[in-house]
Amino acid sequence: MGVYKKFVNQTRKPEGFLGKMMLKGMNSGHAKMADWGISHLKKIEPLDIVDLGCGGGRNAGELLKKYPAAHVTAIDHSGLSVENAKEYNQEMIAAGRCNVQQGDVSALELEEESYDLATAFETIYFWPGLVRCFSQVAKILKPGGYFMICNESDGTDAVSLKYEKIIDGMKNHTVDEIESALKEAGFSKVKTDHYTNKPWITVLARKGTGNGE
Ligand SMILES: C[S@@+](CC[C@H](N)C(=O)[O-])C[C@H]1O[C@@H](n2cnc3c(N)ncnc32)[C@H](O)[C@@H]1O
Repeated sequence: MGVYKKFVNQTRKPEGFLGKMMLKGMNSGHAKMADWGISHLKKIEPLDIVDLGCGGGRNAGELLKKYPAAHVTAIDHSGLSVENAKEYNQEMIAAGRCNVQQGDVSALELEEESYDLATAFETIYFWPGLVRCFSQVAKILKPGGYFMICNESDGTDAVSLKYEKIIDGMKNHTVDEIESALKEAGFSKVKTDHYTNKPWITVLARKGTGNGE
């Protein structure tokens, strides 16, 4: 495998020296898109938040800033991502407002029905089965809890389709595929917004409250 291919494959599970470089790049490279995604969180005041596939931890940090009363749990299956996200959020961890744990979204070992908001930035491309993983997210959300997905790709743009060919296990999902997997996993309301001049998408889904909403 050439160095370029090895490097871009670090997006799926950062490891070693190349993974460390990739994590630094992710924190800065995804910032604008992640901030646009976070701007969709308007009418909610979550107290318990989980950021899934947290990478270098910058987005968990932004959620902590936006919601000063909240606690954020950051999860990633890469030990290196966990290490980096801990370092990035060390002050918030010391203040008892953040914890970072190694875990796989296809088998979440978090308490059921305990989060108001789950977020997933630039990560669902690598999740092993959307319905299976979205069902895990639904399981840990409180009734009426929100799940926000934010992707640089709407599943149709040429650049991301090129990456799909060189990154093992990557899949660019279309909005239709994401929305139908969310509904199958138990989310009742699903809304997608497209960025004006880029293929970025933010999908906001709500778990049913059990009262027909
Ligand atoms: C492209 S990076 C995005 C990181 C961060 N969310 C951001 O926006 O900068 C994808 C991250 O998802 C993580 N990831 C991929 N599949 C995962 C899984 N099944 N469970 C947990 N984390 C996963 C990877 O280890 C990696 O840190």
